[in-house]
Amino acid sequence: MRATLPGIAEWEIQSVIEAAFTARESCWAYQSIVGGGDNATILHYKSNSDRIAEGDLVLVDAGCEVSGYASDITRTWPVSGSFSQPQREIYELVLKAQLAGIESCKAGNLWTSMHHAGSRVLAQGLIDLGVLDCSLDEALGEDFDGPFRDYFMHGTGHMLGLDVHDVGGGRQGDDGPERRLEPGMVLTVEPGLYFGSWRDDLEIPERYSGIGVRIEDDVLVTVDGPVVLTSSCPKTIEEIEALVGSEG
Ligand code: GLY
Ligand code: MN
Ligand code: MN
Repeated sequence: MRATLPGIAEWEIQSVIEAAFTARESCWAYQSIVGGGDNATILHYKSNSDRIAEGDLVLVDAGCEVSGYASDITRTWPVSGSFSQPQREIYELVLKAQLAGIESCKAGNLWTSMHHAGSRVLAQGLIDLGVLDCSLDEALGEDFDGPFRDYFMHGTGHMLGLDVHDVGGGRQGDDGPERRLEPGMVLTVEPGLYFGSWRDDLEIPERYSGIGVRIEDDVLVTVDGPVVLTSSCPKTIEEIEALVGSEG
């Protein structure tokens, strides 16, 4: 964030992050995703080959591996140092959903609790912002597969450990009961919203066209509640705006 200035290229941000990994005798846990503007709306974008236009957001999903253990962090920030009003609206909504997801990472809760908590916030927010014109129940759908999924088309998180998408989560065996969270588990919480201008199957409000936001933290389940292992990485709008470009 400190090194980001308008006109910076995706590969330049990637090189700053991966230089920090290497300098600490670590390596990446998965290929870094650095997507500016519309590229942030492509889920597994990793060519990192475009310059980022002034005024655009950049989404960075990158994590290092230390002693065999993976980390997995996503932050989204404006390359010019300040969020536009539409970007702010979407960012605040994703952050609210992420905080609700983290809050639900309590021992004893079902694995799906965080997905349901975050999804409810996103669906209600999409209605409030005028993106969806329906009730909350309709937006969510019968099995959390309603129209809010047009804008949030991935899981809210996964187990994290020796692999970035580690085993566990979901059900205990194909037909087993849904897993409950236990102290010592580490999982990611990573809701997002994606309004690709290339989507010709949706009527995306012009003000949100080209915006992609994801926020991802790594969370340890404890008897005393969730502990965010990645909390030192800035994520409020105020923290981010104060930091972006400050090195330049
Ligand atoms: N970096 C891959 C993921 O967030 O799941
Ligand atoms: Mn992840
Ligand atoms: Mn990630």
